[in-house]
Amino acid sequence: AKVSFHHGDGAVDIVDVDSGTSVMRAAVTNGVAGIVGECGGQAMCATCHVYVREEYLDGLPQIGEDEEEMLDCTASPRDDSRSRLGCQLKAGDDFTEIEVDLPAEQS
Ligand code: FES
Repeated sequence: AKVSFHHGDGAVDIVDVDSGTSVMRAAVTNGVAGIVGECGGQAMCATCHVYVREEYLDGLPQIGEDEEEMLDCTASPRDDSRSRLGCQLKAGDDFTEIEVDLPAEQS
């Protein structure tokens, strides 16, 4: 699956990941700056916050309870229509291709 990370300065990192890999893990294992993933994917830190581009919102799973709570603790402002935790979006199950904008801050 293909994950595109759009940085605030216009740079884009595109990585290819196997099924089961989260958006957070895709960034961390490929050295993409702008995602921290402090809690390791437990929906407990909100340092994997991303803004999903509108055209990729369809088909994503609903925001879970823990995710919902953490999204209220993000360092950069939450965007109700497209803020998600990157660790809760998995290649294969949730998307085959996705593009996200990176927030200015994660902590
Ligand atoms: Fe901690 Fe996603 S990695 S909430």
